[in-house]
Amino acid sequence: NSEKLSSARFAEATDAFVEEFTASVGFDQRMALQDIQGSLAHATMLHKIGILTEQELADIRSGLAQIRGEIERGEFVWSIKQEDVHMNIEARLTDLIGIAGKKLHTGRSRNDQVATDIRLYLRDEVDVILGQLRRLQTALLDLAEREAATIMPGFTHLQVAQPVTFGHHLMAWFEMLSRDAERFQDCRKRINVMPLGAAALAGTSYPLDRFLTAELLGFSRPSNNSLDSVSDRDFAIEFTAAASLVMLHLSRFSEELVLWASAQFDFIDIPDAFCTGSSIMPQKKNPDVPELVRGKSGRVAGHLMALLMLMKSQPLAYNKDNQEDKEPLFDTVDTVVNSLRAFADMMPRVQAKRENMYQSAKRGFATATDLADYLVRKGMAFRDAHEVVGLAVRLGLRTGRDLSELTLTELQSFSATIAEDVFDILGLEGSVALRKHIGGTAPETVRQAICDARRQILS
Ligand code: ARG
Repeated sequence: NSEKLSSARFAEATDAFVEEFTASVGFDQRMALQDIQGSLAHATMLHKIGILTEQELADIRSGLAQIRGEIERGEFVWSIKQEDVHMNIEARLTDLIGIAGKKLHTGRSRNDQVATDIRLYLRDEVDVILGQLRRLQTALLDLAEREAATIMPGFTHLQVAQPVTFGHHLMAWFEMLSRDAERFQDCRKRINVMPLGAAALAGTSYPLDRFLTAELLGFSRPSNNSLDSVSDRDFAIEFTAAASLVMLHLSRFSEELVLWASAQFDFIDIPDAFCTGSSIMPQKKNPDVPELVRGKSGRVAGHLMALLMLMKSQPLAYNKDNQEDKEPLFDTVDTVVNSLRAFADMMPRVQAKRENMYQSAKRGFATATDLADYLVRKGMAFRDAHEVVGLAVRLGLRTGRDLSELTLTELQSFSATIAEDVFDILGLEGSVALRKHIGGTAPETVRQAICDARRQILS
């Protein structure tokens, strides 16, 4: 197990530090099961085209089964002398079954092998991510349903703008996640193409049945060009870009949760199980989960940059640079899966403090635009109405009252067209109820949007 890879060509042993420096087994062993899966399919195909005998195939299968068991039980001895996951498994296989193990690599190179392993690995992880996304989306729908008629201030510039329903706000989050799921589904199509058969770069002289191997591994088809197959990692970059966007969305949600949980907003309660205390301040309850997720979004965006820069300027075909793709990719997967999971666990238990949300919307002159629209309906030009309402807000500010708390006489001093019916639209409920077009914030519209969304995520 200790012999240098391709040792025959070399006159001296690898420098001990270089051996460590170039080894990837410390991290690429994460793809061990995919590596075995790929080898099993390759061996089955090699037997089918007459390169392996029945017995050799049987030996390879039982050897790989044993290795899988050793890995799963944590008994497998990984060695940096064997550089990477591929060589470690192949060397162990040869130890176990002898000559047949040495035949497995016929018509294959680590270059197409590693490209295949990453694709198998990522395909699995995309499915895990899609599952977690769906869980979180379902949690948001349930919460949005409960809060479909809950009135809160909607913000622009983080200043109270117009009243919205909390359900509507949550459905905005849902929409972002729907696009994230679409992006992962779309990038999965380009992940799911099989490089095996490209060999080192030029293909192989053996009559490999690439369609059979692709079918055995569940790939949609073999790749078209051998040089491209072993060299490009654009599928991983795309994946990391989709991951960066979902993390960016989670980071925005986090920021809002952190603000809302503060005493100054006091819109929600985050369950204790998702918060921690302070080692010095006994009163503290810190929203750690959203804070951490917000922080973690930065590292995923960093990984995207790392992969872009890794690929840039690489000549065809495979270069060892590509070994550097794995750590950013693995950490991206872990970060996205864990962040989504934390959110999906936490959101069902977030409580809305409805009264506080309501009072906050009331304090912010949130129906000022409704008053302007009212004046327009009575025949005033919008710009003039804007001016009139500005004066009314100023009076409210000076006397510490909301627009709905001004008297009719006071309001009429700004415009004689204002009548008793103005109070219907100055209330928060009236304001949101009017916005019932598609995409609007009215409770009945939000309930319809939730209904449509449930159907969408089931399909
Ligand atoms: N460990 C390598 C990687 O991650 C596998 C492919 C190595 N191929 C080679 N010819 N050195 O990319």
